[in-house]
Amino acid sequence: MDVKPGRIVMTGAAGRIGSVLRAGLRADAEHLVLLDREPVEPEGDRESAARVDIGDRAALVEAFTGADAVLHLAAIPDEAPLDDLLDVNVRGTHNVLEAARRAGVPRVVLFSSNRVTGNYPIHHHVFPDEPPRPDGLYGVSKVAAEALGQLYADTFGLEVVALRVGSFAEEPTQTRHLATWLSPRDCVGFARAALTAPNVAFVAAYAVSGNARRFWDLSAGENELGYRPVDDAARFAGRFGDDDPFWHGGPQGGAFARPESVLPHLRE
Ligand SMILES: NC(=O)c1ccc[n+]([C@@H]2O[C@H](COP(=O)([O-])OP(=O)(O)OC[C@H]3O[C@@H](n4cnc5c(N)ncnc54)[C@H](O)[C@@H]3O)[C@@H](O)[C@H]2O)c1
Repeated sequence: MDVKPGRIVMTGAAGRIGSVLRAGLRADAEHLVLLDREPVEPEGDRESAARVDIGDRAALVEAFTGADAVLHLAAIPDEAPLDDLLDVNVRGTHNVLEAARRAGVPRVVLFSSNRVTGNYPIHHHVFPDEPPRPDGLYGVSKVAAEALGQLYADTFGLEVVALRVGSFAEEPTQTRHLATWLSPRDCVGFARAALTAPNVAFVAAYAVSGNARRFWDLSAGENELGYRPVDDAARFAGRFGDDDPFWHGGPQGGAFARPESVLPHLRE
């Protein structure tokens, strides 16, 4: 039976992934409630929108009331000072989970990141239940966000899916993407599966296209969410040289894992 997403609330709806998911889910979601701290224009009578900061728990409870699931995308999506990441990515995620509990929303889908494990070497095939090995402060904030999700699943029975998103882009733009690319079509596929899969308690799954050179295991997505990605970055391999130093070894996060990526964000 094809299960439809019902009334879905999306945080961070004005962002890059939010805009794609909105278009991809519009056809079969009963209603989309679009939240962002930036303005979002609803389209048609099956969308509504509100300007809400995820720091405002009371506003989240109000917006979540009556929803079947929350897609939580709002975040600082890259390296930043730890205080800012703690505020938006960790406290903000806690507000979302707590607001879902208070409003009686059964399921929350957290947009986590591949960078929770970005310091594993490229030759290591990572399963989502291996210990975290973040490649920077952003990755640390997403580890904490996933841990909050696990807490709410274990303690309160909230259904939580943490999607460890790869490199979301229309097409791969650098050699690392031959392993890490997440196509828009597969992004919608993973999100839809995370919203509708039966028997979810807590699931962490890599959301990456079926790239031949990937270093993340896809079985959690396939077995627990019922989604197998359809795209493969290999189709773009001709655009990138074979001898890029990235493939010689080193962390999966590539440039993200270098000290120079973290150092500018370390305050005195
Ligand atoms: N784009 C990628 O390749 C990628 C990879 C891994 C994980 N992710 C995760 O996916 C999610 C979406 O990423 P994106 O690329 O669309 O990012 P984005 O920056 O384009 O969108 C994030 C949205 O969140 C909103 N936002 C930020 N702080 C907010 C707050 N305090 N309250 C309300 N809204 C707030 C922003 O206004 C923005 O519209 C993020 O959680 C990100 O960490 C993205």
